[in-house]
Amino acid sequence: MRIDIITVLPELLVSPFAHSMMKRAQERGLLEVLTHNVRDYTPYRQAQVDDYQFGGGAGMVMMPEPLAILIEKLQSERKYDEVIYMTPDGDLFNQKAANTLSLKENIIIICGHYKGIDDRIRQHYVTREISIGDYVLSGGELAAAVVVDAIGRLLPGVLNDEMSALFDSFQDGLLAPPVYTRPADFRGWVVPDILLCGDPKKIDDWRQEQSLKRTAERRPELLKGLE
Ligand code: ADE
Repeated sequence: MRIDIITVLPELLVSPFAHSMMKRAQERGLLEVLTHNVRDYTPYRQAQVDDYQFGGGAGMVMMPEPLAILIEKLQSERKYDEVIYMTPDGDLFNQKAANTLSLKENIIIICGHYKGIDDRIRQHYVTREISIGDYVLSGGELAAAVVVDAIGRLLPGVLNDEMSALFDSFQDGLLAPPVYTRPADFRGWVVPDILLCGDPKKIDDWRQEQSLKRTAERRPELLKGLE
């Protein structure tokens, strides 16, 4: 899978993909993440990429032309399945959206800055708008990193234990059960006996029961979605 990220701050997108699973995914050739600086594509003097908004009001808006030039350059090189714009007024990102996007081949992600991007880019190029939560970040880069991480770890071959993504919180619509490691007795705080019983069926049943309990206590609205 190839993900092209359009940004005015490519530096912000170095570290999130340089370690751990995202690093491994790229080393294994399963994921390619490329960042493109909008400033390298602007036809305006002094690398200008933003301007005052028509109608007045505080805050700058990212101009359409540098974005259009860059998007069209990428689209002339290969076919993209989605052109995503990261924005707080987009569809709320969740595990289902991550699963859907992980099946795509080529994706463009546009990171907004300042007041956002000129709406004509949204109307004419963007196919999907994503928010990572009901709060406003200073730019779309951190949100894009969240989305790419959530997608990247789902690509077959990225996780060492092929099964482990299946047990994530949300993957079956439920929160994950509690987990424990050694020692079995830490300061008198002991691991539930059942996890030490060696019977996989009993352990599976316990985990399922704990998942349901946690979900009912913490996110009861998720259970309604399963009915
Ligand atoms: N850009 C600024 N805030 C954002 C958010 N919450 N989600 C996605 N992109 C954003």
